[in-house]
Amino acid sequence: MLTTTIHVDLPQNAYQVAIAPGAIAQLGQHLTPLQLSPRLLLVSDENVFPHYGEVAVASLQAAGFAVATHIFPAGEPHKTLASIQQLYDTAHTHRLERRSTLLALGGGVVGDMTGFAAATWLRGVNFVQVPTTLLAMVDAAIGGKTGVNHPQGKNLIGAFYQPRAVIIDPQMLATLPRREFRAGMAEVIKYGVIWDADLFDQLAAASQLDRYDAVSPALLQTILSRSCQAKAAVVRQDEKEAGLRAILNYGHTVGHAVESLTHYKKFVHGEAVAIGMVAAGAIAQQLEFWTAKDNARQLDLIAKAQLPTQIPDNLRVADILTALQSDKKVQAGRVRFILPTAIGSVQITAQVPTDPLARVLVACGAAA
Ligand code: GLY
Repeated sequence: MLTTTIHVDLPQNAYQVAIAPGAIAQLGQHLTPLQLSPRLLLVSDENVFPHYGEVAVASLQAAGFAVATHIFPAGEPHKTLASIQQLYDTAHTHRLERRSTLLALGGGVVGDMTGFAAATWLRGVNFVQVPTTLLAMVDAAIGGKTGVNHPQGKNLIGAFYQPRAVIIDPQMLATLPRREFRAGMAEVIKYGVIWDADLFDQLAAASQLDRYDAVSPALLQTILSRSCQAKAAVVRQDEKEAGLRAILNYGHTVGHAVESLTHYKKFVHGEAVAIGMVAAGAIAQQLEFWTAKDNARQLDLIAKAQLPTQIPDNLRVADILTALQSDKKVQAGRVRFILPTAIGSVQITAQVPTDPLARVLVACGAAA
């Protein structure tokens, strides 16, 4: 299958996203057009590196790169400034220079941390993203959001720093745990609802969406390219989230509240987003932003991806409403919701009265 190239046409920092089956074995060749200087630090984690580290390093070396590696322990608890400090130490040991490259081989945590280190080491070195999870391929690796968590909240420390390239090898999804594949599918469904009705229709026509090996290579290529195109189009129009980019947080308002009230233990991020999309869809129906039919179509798709659709019944509405006040989109104390107006389009609104909101949260499973 041929490479699909998506252009992220930013005025200052334009780059390309390449979707190329088998790309991991040709990583060096993919980087050649960028004319990077030879010193490169490959950053990965202890789950991903054993699968793909050797082939990636061999390909980079064959293309003339002098490769060093830094392997993080896997998982969100390690997304800290202390981990970044260790990465800086490795960058120093390997004498990275301004024109050197940090390459992230991993999911969103590895990509966000590597990007933050790339933004700050020597005030900015080259950065390349090689995402290995579906969620990172369609969302986190594109658009330049980098950072780490603070004890008081996720992603509170960070910088916008665009990669020089994003290289996606869909075949790497074969080793992704099924739960993580489904979680990434939540973000794909998000693009169908907020931006791309045709993508939504193609997902709706698929017989299964819950496993890598049940999705044909052609559909997977479509899913990746349409999602990346949607992300690129939004970022192109609003790189630093002055307005439009907030629509990428569809489903994240109630989703983040559910994640934080369950202490980030019960759901992975994409699952919480799925619940948040169900809630946003129900609010949109209640307020007549979209039709009951569109809402049912969204619910069917989320269920087909075997994602959760209910708020856990031990979460109380009052606690969810309080948690919503910590949402990053709150302005002047008003929670701003991203609500769909039809399949393929959304609107940002701060006009969601508490009473119908509370009723919808109960209908979605929360305790009154
Ligand atoms: N993940 C949302 C964004 O990149 O803006």
